[in-house]
Amino acid sequence: MIGFIGAGNVGTTLGMYFHKMNMSISGYTSRTYISAKKSASKTNSKTFENIENLIISSKYVMITTPDDAIEDVVADIIMTNINLNNKVICHTSGAHPSSVLEPLYQKGATIASLHPILSFADIEHALSLLHHTPFTLEGKGNIINEFIQLLEDNKLKIYNIKTKQKTLYHASACIVSNYLVTLMDTGVQMLNMIGFDSKTSLELIEPLVKGTLNNIFEKGPESALSGPIARGDISTIQKHIEVLSKQNKDINNIYSVLGNKTLDIVMRKNTLDENTVNNLREILKNEKNND
Ligand SMILES: NC(=O)c1ccc[n+]([C@@H]2O[C@H](COP(=O)([O-])OP(=O)(O)OC[C@H]3O[C@@H](n4cnc5c(N)ncnc54)[C@H](OP(=O)(O)O)[C@@H]3O)[C@@H](O)[C@H]2O)c1
Repeated sequence: MIGFIGAGNVGTTLGMYFHKMNMSISGYTSRTYISAKKSASKTNSKTFENIENLIISSKYVMITTPDDAIEDVVADIIMTNINLNNKVICHTSGAHPSSVLEPLYQKGATIASLHPILSFADIEHALSLLHHTPFTLEGKGNIINEFIQLLEDNKLKIYNIKTKQKTLYHASACIVSNYLVTLMDTGVQMLNMIGFDSKTSLELIEPLVKGTLNNIFEKGPESALSGPIARGDISTIQKHIEVLSKQNKDINNIYSVLGNKTLDIVMRKNTLDENTVNNLREILKNEKNND
């Protein structure tokens, strides 16, 4: 029996998924009764007015509240004084490791963090993608392997990570997803500077960006890389830095920092001679460019 604390997008989608896979769902409890009832009705399960009854009725408990509420939920579970042996309690936060559930482990529970690498903005859409969604998992306890097996038996793709790696893992997700947006927005701002409105700017960059993303996933970052740094085109980089240092200090910083990381990729490819690499490093020196 799987029970959910927090009847929001993730809790409802996972409940609907497990229900579709013919797993027994005990039900939902949430901050408001109305949310819990709505999710329970979608999963043919019960609405619980309190955490205590939900935990008694569930072997697997998923905390699908906002990240900031997890600590309070843990305190509420401890208050119930229920025997947690032979129960799994997991949360679905990407930011927090399973160790935020440590007080529950001390009371006998198996604890885990189970993070779906997917946006749950739309429940039906997320549900249709769940089969192909990677989940990272870390945790500990007597029945952790049984829990992993259960998820895999239900056709979820589980990737194990270590608890102490969770923050680095989440920072990586932040770079590839959130900062990709920031990078696109920065490029659009630069096109705004030369007079294109934002809609036109997006039209201009769309084929370039989509083509690059395709190349990354088809061939890997090293083969996908092209452009002046990959070619060792020193004068072009010099001109970029000259313009950016006058135009916008922040964008110039981004250009220099990412230029250096791009040079690291070029070095892995081993396509430029040492002299060109050193010259490029010198031009891309951040402090010098912001004098
Ligand atoms: N959204 C995503 O794309 C995504 C992706 C991966 C992981 N996650 C993680 O999944 C978790 C849930 O995210 P979400 O997007 O599903 O959030 P959400 O849609 O905001 O839902 C959170 C639910 O938790 C309930 N809640 C809030 N405080 C509570 C408390 N103290 N006790 C019991 N229930 C409480 C809310 O209740 P009421 O509705 O009753 O007010 C709400 O239904 C988070 O840890 C998040 O980081 C989210």
